[in-house]
Amino acid sequence: MARIVVVGTGIAGLVTAYRAMTRGGHEVMLVTKAELAESNTRYAQGGIAAAMFPDDSVAAHVADTLRAGAGLCDPVAVEVLCSEGPRRIRELIALGVEFDRIDGELARGHEAAHSRRRVLHAGGDATGLAIELALLRAVAGLAIEVHEHTFLRDLVLDAGQRVIGIDAIAPDGRPLRLLGDAVVLATGGAGQLYRHTTNPGVTTGDGIAAAARAGAVLADLEFYQFHPTSLAVPGDPLVSEAVRGEGAVLLDESGRRFMLEVHPDAELAPRDIVARAIAATMAAQGGRPALLDARMLGRTRLEERFPGITAVCREHGIDWASEPVPVTPAAHYWMGGIHTDIDGRSSIPGLYAVGEAAHTGVHGANRLASNSLLESLVFAWRAAEALDADGSPVPRAEPQRPAGELPSSLRLSRSQLQELMWRQVGLERDAAGLEAAASRLDEWSRGDTARDQEPRTVRELENRNLLDLARLMTAAALVREESRGAHHRSDFPETSAAFAADTLEVVR
Ligand code: SIN
Repeated sequence: MARIVVVGTGIAGLVTAYRAMTRGGHEVMLVTKAELAESNTRYAQGGIAAAMFPDDSVAAHVADTLRAGAGLCDPVAVEVLCSEGPRRIRELIALGVEFDRIDGELARGHEAAHSRRRVLHAGGDATGLAIELALLRAVAGLAIEVHEHTFLRDLVLDAGQRVIGIDAIAPDGRPLRLLGDAVVLATGGAGQLYRHTTNPGVTTGDGIAAAARAGAVLADLEFYQFHPTSLAVPGDPLVSEAVRGEGAVLLDESGRRFMLEVHPDAELAPRDIVARAIAATMAAQGGRPALLDARMLGRTRLEERFPGITAVCREHGIDWASEPVPVTPAAHYWMGGIHTDIDGRSSIPGLYAVGEAAHTGVHGANRLASNSLLESLVFAWRAAEALDADGSPVPRAEPQRPAGELPSSLRLSRSQLQELMWRQVGLERDAAGLEAAASRLDEWSRGDTARDQEPRTVRELENRNLLDLARLMTAAALVREESRGAHHRSDFPETSAAFAADTLEVVR
């Protein structure tokens, strides 16, 4: 039996904790900086994709995933994802997730770049919440040591550079060290890097930044996916791609259906293409949002299939059964992250990463819609099993602080950082903008380092993480002199065979 510290309580963290306890009989400490139920997972709408139906196949799901990934997917990881997905989804059903059904059969939605309908959903557009709540019920009966409102500050390494725990900030603000035989980071992405994001406020990349400081290999940080349609109101709530999958269309403010001219699949073209087309349309109309017209679905269908979006529209005084809704792209999902093998192992012994914090290689340059919940489920399950195989570590040496040093940020204005990233390291990039962003980010870092103060509060530590990650992402985006998937360089608009490999980075 090993002692495992799991950080993060979305689907990836909860599945790891559940499987590590029920199969391995490990002792699990579950750490989250908010309440247990707060995570990116709970806001996932569209669903979870898997080849569960007789007219579908693992091979077709693999092919769609590889095509969306624009030449950068790891084919072995994709095969694992698509072939193990259906079994894992049946386990979720056994754990009490009630996916929507029609006449007793699983209902299935359609989303961009899928060659067939294979997206399972629950509660209409509340799939993530249904999964999160079922997993919370599953772990509630287990003797897991839970640390809510506990912030991951850094990883603890021993003299042999093995990760042996975390340094955290306890709810009362005091330092807390949790030691274990392994640490699993399930801390999600960093949507808070950007002015517009579909992600909740907790997504500040804390796990990826801590892994970077500890010297873990990171990969493909330049690839950040922007969801085409968030509602253009404060908070940028997601308007699921499944709405377009059911037939809704995009219009400019004169009522023109602009996607017809952009791609043969129109509104269901790959996400990066739709997002950039919306951004271009907005730029051409003075920054005002594009419009998503779902009226043809009718009031009853909209309310039944998308009750959550219907409610959010209503809160903002919009009746989407009778008028098109204003939409804008928003930062949604980071394909890059902590580089792992197909069992969640990072480059540092004792450190594992799962879910959006990880780079397993399944998404390549552009994630296929509804593959993210699936990735978390499949690879967290595998990581929990790898913990058994990897066994307990060699006896511990004296803990040391992480070796990697990145400048920290105390007085950074988060909104200035988000604005800079949105304008210059966002949907469209070029060398001039990236270089300007890099030098501004360096300036902010140097300013704080010169003051020679350590960040102390959670807000300061989150800002340090965001600034560190912004610098790494900008540097990676500068190096990749091509356009591929979600990374679009207007000065290098073509895809180049010279860049057909992952960008690997280690902070030194
Ligand atoms: C959506 O519902 O559009 C989001 C699905 C996803 O990001 O995979």
